[in-house]
Order: sequence, then structure tokens, then C-alpha cells
Amino acid sequence: RKYTIPYEELGAEKLSELIHAFYARVAKHPHLIPIFPEDLTETIRKQIQFQTQYLGGPNLYTEEHGHPMMRARHMNFKITPDRAQAWLECMAEAMDEVGLDGQFRETYFQRLVMTAHHMINAENEDE
Ligand code: HEM
Repeated sequence: RKYTIPYEELGAEKLSELIHAFYARVAKHPHLIPIFPEDLTETIRKQIQFQTQYLGGPNLYTEEHGHPMMRARHMNFKITPDRAQAWLECMAEAMDEVGLDGQFRETYFQRLVMTAHHMINAENEDE
């Protein structure tokens, strides 16, 4: 069976669509608004670079920003279980919007679930 690099299977254009659809939701999510900047332009650019290498494409993130150390880079923010859940909900909806499905979506999403849980560094806050 031929092995395909996930980044190539998805394609740069689809990845860009996905990340834009994702941050459009992040910008409106009550649990996420408090910790994200108002202007998400730079966040979107970095996330596309990161996801490109996360999916086996060129190391665009590392080339510009150095070692990802994603958990460390999230330490400035309170990443609670509720926020991890919200992040993943935004991603699932974005995947629906751009039409990701099947085994590819399943595998990609499960990886993101693991990474999101790894990022948690704070307890839920009181409502
Ligand atoms: C940056 C929140 C999970 C990748 C950020 C920022 C916040 C944030 C607030 C800073 C945005 C900015 O200042 O531009 C969260 C929350 C998560 C989560 C609440 C829930 C678990 C993830 C996951 C990944 C990821 C699962 C990767 C698979 C990134 C990247 C950046 C970032 C690449 C940019 C880092 C940089 O500034 O160079 N995240 N994140 N995040 N996040 Fe997350």
C-alpha cells in the first residue's frame, strides 16, 4: 500500500481554508475570545505554518520560529479542559464546513484531540 503524506493528501489550499474556517469560529467562541488577540491574521499565518509541518509537509513553522515547543508556548495562556473542548469543537465544525471526511479526517482529528489534551495547563474557571 502506498504511503501518502497527509499534507499532500489534504493540499495547501484546503489547509488554508480549514484554518480560516477554524479561526472564524474561535473568534466567536465565548470560552476562547478572552485569550485570543482581536486580530487573528498573524495567528492564522503561524497556525498554517505549524499544521503544514504537523501533517508532514515542509517545516515552515520551525524555519521561522524555531522549535515548536507547543506546550511551552501555550503556558502564557490558561488552557483549561473547557477551552480544549471549545478548540476541538471549532475544529470539528471547520472540518465539516470545508468537507473533510472519512479516514483522513478521523485520523487527523484524533491527533488534534491528543495534542489539545496535552496543552491543558489549568483547571476550569468558575462560570
Ligand atoms: C497559539 C490557544 C490548542 C497550535 C495559541 C494562542 C492561544 C492558543 C491563545 C496565542 C495566539 C496568538 O497570540 O497569536 C489554544 C487553546 C488550545 C490550543 C485554548 C486548546 C487546547 C492548540 C493545538 C495546536 C495549537 C492543539 C496544534 C495542534 C498553536 C500554534 C500557535 C498557537 C501553532 C502559534 C504559536 C506562536 O505564537 O508561534 N494557541 N491553543 N494550539 N497555538 Fe494554540
